[in-house]
Amino acid sequence: MDQKTEALKHIKEEVIALKGSALADERRENKTFPVIGEGSHDADIMFIGEAPGENEAKTGRPFVGRAGQFLNELLDSVGIPRDTVYITNIVKDRPPKNRDPLPDEIELYAPFLDRQIEIIKPKVIATLGRFSMIYIMNRYGLSLEVEPISALHGKVFDAEPPYGKVKFVPLFHPAAAIYNQALKETLKEDFKVLKTIIDK
Ligand code: URA
Repeated sequence: MDQKTEALKHIKEEVIALKGSALADERRENKTFPVIGEGSHDADIMFIGEAPGENEAKTGRPFVGRAGQFLNELLDSVGIPRDTVYITNIVKDRPPKNRDPLPDEIELYAPFLDRQIEIIKPKVIATLGRFSMIYIMNRYGLSLEVEPISALHGKVFDAEPPYGKVKFVPLFHPAAAIYNQALKETLKEDFKVLKTIIDK
């Protein structure tokens, strides 16, 4: 097993055994799965969503429900194969009834995300939704630039994770666009921005 795969496997094992998380306790009770992430370990782009939903917790895979179908459509629309990117979430266990993640849940699970970023070393980080947007901006030197997602989506920032330079692109969450045609179009336009920066 290569080093990256091994390091990611450690993360998975730690999340599976996680103590002190009501979400993890609930997952064990319900016999569902944590969602660690999937995709290429050498991905140029890493997508970071919010937390698993019902379908994700049933399968252990990120973005496989309706939001995931729209994410697939967005990737297709700019010709980025899903298996060339890495897709994960900030919170690795499903919040009950898909409620928003709580600050202490983000705090508990985010170190796993930090390690995934360090292992994969993407050139571009694209957040899906405001929770991962705010976390990444505060974490990687962009706290002064934080504004509502409506003002920041589709913009390209230079972020500074410990391993080097990264382009950071905040995007709306695809679930928000399912019943909102205008937001769908906005996300499609913003994916064109993503495509342009990876082609550079
Ligand atoms: N929404 C998310 O934020 N993540 C998933 O994996 C699925 C839906």
